[in-house]
Amino acid sequence: MALIEKSDIYTVGFDLIDNDHADFIGLLNQLEAAGNAEFPALFQELFEHTEQHFGHENQLMTQFAYAGEIEHKGEHQRVLGEFKQFKTRVDKGMIVFGRSFVRERLPQWFGLHVTTMDSALAAYINSQT
Ligand SMILES: [Fe+2]
Ligand SMILES: [Fe+2]
Repeated sequence: MALIEKSDIYTVGFDLIDNDHADFIGLLNQLEAAGNAEFPALFQELFEHTEQHFGHENQLMTQFAYAGEIEHKGEHQRVLGEFKQFKTRVDKGMIVFGRSFVRERLPQWFGLHVTTMDSALAAYINSQT
């Protein structure tokens, strides 16, 4: 069963962000279905994808002089830090920690972040263009 269905994705209405989110969900669901042998490499891939995804949004915030920039960037930084701690554990073979992060923490965080910070950012950009 997929952790998040593609149809459940809250569309923010800005393609670059929506495409990153669709890819994030795809990788998350792949991880859920992955065996232990393939889990670490996919976990690494999701980590790198998340760095890029946050980088795209951070760049947009700077480009459009977004008022919520500090708060939103700070949240990205915080989540990447958390992600990194789990990646360290997965790299040491503690895959069970990575699985719980992928099953519980990430989907919960993602749903909240997209419907609040990311949707606010997209609405602002769309009002400026
Ligand atoms: Fe996002
Ligand atoms: Fe974001």
